[in-house]
Amino acid sequence: MGKVMLEVNDLKTKYVTRFKEDVYAVDGVSLKIEEGKSLGVAGESGCGKSTLALSLIGYYFAPLHYMSGEIIIDGQNISGMKPDEVRKKVLGTEVAYIPQAAMNALNPTQKIIRFIEDVIQVHDKSLSKKDIYDMAVERFRILGLPPEVLQKHAVELSGGMKQRTVIAISTILSPKVLIADEPSSALDVTSQKMVIKMMRELMEKGFIKSMIFITHELPLLYNVTDDIMVMYAGQIVEHGTAKEMVFDPVHPYSKGLMGSIIVPEEGTRDVQLEAIPGTPPNLKHPPDGCRFAPRCKYAKPECKVYDVPEKEFEGHRMYRCIYDVDYLKEAYGRNG
Ligand SMILES: Nc1ncnc2c1ncn2[C@@H]1O[C@H](COP(=O)(O)OP(=O)(O)OP(=O)(O)O)[C@@H](O)[C@H]1O
Ligand SMILES: [Mg+2]
Repeated sequence: MGKVMLEVNDLKTKYVTRFKEDVYAVDGVSLKIEEGKSLGVAGESGCGKSTLALSLIGYYFAPLHYMSGEIIIDGQNISGMKPDEVRKKVLGTEVAYIPQAAMNALNPTQKIIRFIEDVIQVHDKSLSKKDIYDMAVERFRILGLPPEVLQKHAVELSGGMKQRTVIAISTILSPKVLIADEPSSALDVTSQKMVIKMMRELMEKGFIKSMIFITHELPLLYNVTDDIMVMYAGQIVEHGTAKEMVFDPVHPYSKGLMGSIIVPEEGTRDVQLEAIPGTPPNLKHPPDGCRFAPRCKYAKPECKVYDVPEKEFEGHRMYRCIYDVDYLKEAYGRNG
């Protein structure tokens, strides 16, 4: 087993709304990522993907609150740290974060090089502007970005170039973990491909040591990440290798979510497109028992009563359902 870059144990975080209601958006998430590996996180809108990303980088500003659990980055437990300490000691060097719609958040009137100076100077005030510029030119060159971009303003860049620039800025300090929230969504197909190529290169060239890639575009994950984890209502419902999750999903929710996937290299899978009826539960009042049970076509009355633990199978895979794997597969077989 390789060195573990990120380990998360039973993490629970919540939002507290203006009306003092609790929204349990990350409810007992555990995961591990080894050096050189990438993990995809998939799930419908509102299942807690972005909240998980914020929670992992210790971004505990109201309304988001840490409740319990551990976040360990390359052996360093950051779970107890204050957000300000996290910003100074962890963000950028240990973990970098690319928020959803990051490229639209860049201040349009600031030159790109200034963003890089800002990121670097939080951690190292000794470097001169010339040193930082030289470092940025070198990094942009290796990543295939024209160094002229450094002297431009965000507003002068195309969407795809802006997003690749955001990724280059965020990873300038070669973090151990990169968490990218929908980094290629809202881009045209060509720009999407370039963003994904760049993320792969960051890993291959050792500029990042591990990665979490969040998206609801499942076909993307198959080609980009080693493992895939499916989230539903704040919890992980299944985790396996990308190949297992795409071609042999076990949990009824993953099965539904993967049902429509098209894997370009291997042709369209011979499965019926099956939408998942209904909507995810309100996380202020998650349902008893299995959270997916109200939408699950295989659910029995007991599913709505008993809390479902995470269960391991095949040595490394995990799923969260009261049924045995064999039973589920047989049921899928019967359903065609
Ligand atoms: N600021 C907030 N205050 C209260 N609840 C919130 C807040 N932000 C998100 N939530 C709730 O937390 C849950 C998880 O939201 P989150 O944004 O993490 O989902 P997501 O999986 O990233 O969705 P998407 O695919 O749309 O980006 C949802 O039920 C959402 O309504
Ligand atoms: Mg999100």
